[in-house]
Amino acid sequence: MAFPCSSKLLFLLCLVLFQSSSLAKTTSPPKQFFLPIHKDASTLQYVTQIKQRTPLVPIRLVLDLGGRALWTVCEHGYISSTIRTAGCNTTQCRLAEASSNCLTCSWGPFGPGCTNAPTCWRFPLNSVTRGTAPSELASDIVAINAVGPEGRAGKIVTVPQFVFICASTANVGGLAKGVAGMAGLGRTRISLPAQLASTLNLKRSFALCLSSSTSSKNDGVVIFGEEPYEYDLQGNISSSLKYTPLILNKQNTEDEVLRTESSAEYFIEVKSIKINNKTVELNSTLLQLNDRGFGGTKISTVHPYTLLETSIYKAVIKAFVNELKNVTRVAPVAPFGACFSSKNIGITRVGPAVPTIDLVMKNGVVWRVFGANSMVKVNKDVLCLGFVDGGEPTFIASILIGGHQVEENLLSFDLEKLRLGFSSSLLSKRTTCSKYRPKP
Ligand SMILES: *[C@@H]1O[C@H](CO)[C@@H](O)[C@H](O)[C@H]1NC(C)=O
Ligand SMILES: *[C@@H]1O[C@H](CO)[C@@H](O)[C@H](O)[C@H]1NC(C)=O
Ligand SMILES: *[C@@H]1O[C@H](CO)[C@@H](O)[C@H](O)[C@H]1NC(C)=O
Ligand SMILES: *[C@@H]1O[C@H](CO)[C@@H](O)[C@H](O)[C@H]1NC(C)=O
Ligand SMILES: *[C@@H]1O[C@H](CO)[C@@H](O)[C@H](O)[C@H]1NC(C)=O
Repeated sequence: MAFPCSSKLLFLLCLVLFQSSSLAKTTSPPKQFFLPIHKDASTLQYVTQIKQRTPLVPIRLVLDLGGRALWTVCEHGYISSTIRTAGCNTTQCRLAEASSNCLTCSWGPFGPGCTNAPTCWRFPLNSVTRGTAPSELASDIVAINAVGPEGRAGKIVTVPQFVFICASTANVGGLAKGVAGMAGLGRTRISLPAQLASTLNLKRSFALCLSSSTSSKNDGVVIFGEEPYEYDLQGNISSSLKYTPLILNKQNTEDEVLRTESSAEYFIEVKSIKINNKTVELNSTLLQLNDRGFGGTKISTVHPYTLLETSIYKAVIKAFVNELKNVTRVAPVAPFGACFSSKNIGITRVGPAVPTIDLVMKNGVVWRVFGANSMVKVNKDVLCLGFVDGGEPTFIASILIGGHQVEENLLSFDLEKLRLGFSSSLLSKRTTCSKYRPKP
């Protein structure tokens, strides 16, 4: 690029331009952004908050790791001078590939979510109730906090045309009180990580750290952008993560209307399960995704506990009970099948002293699950193995790793290298997820 700096008249101007461009380089844009995540005590859902609209208002959304998009209710009281409906066949409409529809909302009342002109429609999935209904695609401003120096919250940055789905009120049934939709982090081009990466020039990667506490002092966090993700100087978790490939499920088994598209969920391959270092006998065919997209292992934040396909569930319970046979088994407390008197179970830094459960993956990489993640305290005398019978592998995976099993674990989703990094319990490293949330 030739610039006419030879002219004496322009020399000064060139100098000024040169200086301001090098100044811009020294104040480099933030590389990480974050949202706090609060665990709702009554639903056990993980709730986040983002600012949206003009003027900006905080919107509470249930976090959905495998969700395709951000969707929020527009039907009543959506007031914003910057909302734009996505037209049919626009770039935004195509990015949101999910059973395309072009419809006109002729029935009114007209406003955000009901446009009296041909508009791009999509299906926002409530993955808790599994309900959905066609809804308009739109865009509006969202604002998100950068991670500043030393793990403090940095400046708030706005994204002008963030694409989301304008759902109807019925879509939020089953979600925590005060929540207006869901924040999808899934494998699509309009999920939160995808849009933030493209508009804020971030690495296509994010970390999830869910707190087991329902106190807002101990919120967890999702961090968008590149590693490392820790700010507490004691730990060095990012460098000690273990990795396993993320697997794309080419068939969406979550919902009938979305069945023709790839799944947006995060699947990994578990090859075997060990309890106290002993391999559990199970049908390993179920651990692989079959050609219809069923089976395999996925991670979900909308299920509070891990679901196991019936035959795997029975095998795991049997092996676990056998390893804990010196502890009194008590009547099961639903939804769990194996419960124990907590009297004879000691407490360690990583929770109740119970047999370890290893998820063994490719190349022998092991995700070790300790008592804090395997056991659920149902009352002061009873601890239950926190796994639930998921029935036949119909719409769920054979192993669906739920919230309780990933709490106080750092998970890093690297969408460039297509791998999942995991820390196992942070408690073993004397830290927790709330330490990773930037403080004001
Ligand atoms: C969108 O594009 C398709 C194919 O290019 C075309 O058939 C359809 O009529 C277009 N719809 C609108 C509303 O422009
Ligand atoms: C943390 O990990 C990074 C990257 O591997 C390394 O450069 C650094 O020295 C480590 N810090 C500590 C305190 O161990
Ligand atoms: C399982 O193996 C690990 C090392 O691989 C060992 O430290 C541990 O004690 C073993 N646990 C049991 C119950 O055998
Ligand atoms: C293992 O599971 C597959 C898939 O459901 C089934 O077809 C097969 O019969 C099972 N094998 C055994 C030995 O039960
Ligand atoms: C029961 O067995 C486990 C595992 O072998 C052991 O850690 C624990 O101390 C035992 N508890 C009692 C009460 O003997």
